[in-house]
Amino acid sequence: MKDVEEKSCLMILFGASGDLTARKLAPALYRLEVKGKLDEHFRIIGFARKKYSTEEFREKILSSLKQYASDCPFDNEFVNRFLSRIHYISGQYSDVESYNELYRLIMQKFLRGHICLNYLLYLAVPPSVIETILNTFKKSVFWETQSSSAQYRVIIEKPFGVDVDSARKLNRLLDDIFDERNIYRIDHYLAKDTVRNILIFRFANSIFEPLWNRNYIDNIQITAAETIGVEGRGKFYEEAGVVRDMIQNHVLQVLSLIAMEPPIAGDAESIRDKKYEVFRSIAPIYESDFVFGQYAGYRDEPDVAKDSVTPTYVGIKMNINNWRWFGVPIYIRSGKRLARKLTDVIIEFKKIPLCLFSSEQVCAQIESNRLIIRIQPEEGFRLTVSTKVHGEEDEILPANLDFRYGHAGMQMGDAYEKILLDGIEGRSVLFWRADSIEQAWKVVTPLLEAQEKLRDIPIYESGSWGPKEADKLLARDGKYWLESY
Ligand code: BG6
Repeated sequence: MKDVEEKSCLMILFGASGDLTARKLAPALYRLEVKGKLDEHFRIIGFARKKYSTEEFREKILSSLKQYASDCPFDNEFVNRFLSRIHYISGQYSDVESYNELYRLIMQKFLRGHICLNYLLYLAVPPSVIETILNTFKKSVFWETQSSSAQYRVIIEKPFGVDVDSARKLNRLLDDIFDERNIYRIDHYLAKDTVRNILIFRFANSIFEPLWNRNYIDNIQITAAETIGVEGRGKFYEEAGVVRDMIQNHVLQVLSLIAMEPPIAGDAESIRDKKYEVFRSIAPIYESDFVFGQYAGYRDEPDVAKDSVTPTYVGIKMNINNWRWFGVPIYIRSGKRLARKLTDVIIEFKKIPLCLFSSEQVCAQIESNRLIIRIQPEEGFRLTVSTKVHGEEDEILPANLDFRYGHAGMQMGDAYEKILLDGIEGRSVLFWRADSIEQAWKVVTPLLEAQEKLRDIPIYESGSWGPKEADKLLARDGKYWLESY
């Protein structure tokens, strides 16, 4: 009985006919099926405005599996079992009766006598629809059964609001309906193995923690670069821009894991508490601390204004005002159509205090130690240390201590697979908490305000590392963007 209560046995997928279901959710759920992670009673009910029969919807899911889950065994047994879990109901998001009908069908038909105490609502819909769904849900019979006989978890896709106010409003609405511990705000970066590994790297090794502070670290650089453009998402991107799309969420999450204090325990709340403190400690960002850019050709993308000044690139210098990090600059860059697909964190340690070697040539060759935490691709890490060149008295080289998951024969899992399993099984550590998400919006507010005021924007070539102006952010501190492996 306990198992049934803790695991969700039924997932209601709002926005089931959309792109996210086809590209990410259905393939991830199918992978879980193949791995035997789905309980025999688990059912998926698609709910959306488009009219499909369950049979038609299953067909649609099947073709998306063929397209997006081709890496998985495609055997009839798995496919049939998976498809038989899936049902579809069309309805209006604002119509209470549609929800009541859905509830009745669930009770009478889909669970076939099995008692479900834990439901997972997945809101794979645009932000504008979320409020409608939540308000209608609250008026429906689902709500009446909440807590008395059933528990609901809700997963909400990014973007979570567009600024502090909208995020706060959404949080209030959610808070009215669900327990905070049952609200799962997605950030798919948190489900990446290598992002999660930052915690292991820091807190399962004793050698880094003593060095992990302003006394030994000179600067931190975070890059989240993509080679793709907006890929048909011009309408969304015009309203978002790189700050809403990448910085407020993915990049700040990575930063919080790098910068947080050790939590008192490994549970979700202890970790989230420490991450929240990081967001609160980030110093106000001034206009002189960031540079926007737009890739050449962005204005020719579908649904993009011909005179758009939406930033597709941003370079930022941040500071964290606490005892651990005061005075350590954090340089961040993220953009589309850059030179390579690359997400990493480079920690540059301070230079040695004094060179003991007589030759100036040798001293000049000594580089600072660097730690590269590679989030993607070629996931792993590298530590560079100075070493003597064999047989040469006057030569020092940086040697690389390298680890790659790929070389160790480990395949990186799909982020959505992890997110869905955590949602189904009730683990919230990988999701945003209300206070942190609002605080992260506060951090980026100066950038959003500046974005609103833009009249012009530096254009950078596709395949470059962004506008030259971003180099100056570092050059004025005597630094430069460090190269990854
Ligand atoms: C999404 C953004 O959240 O993250 C996209 O909306 C971006 O614009 C994507 O391309 C990047 O994710 P990943 O996992 O490819 O680094």
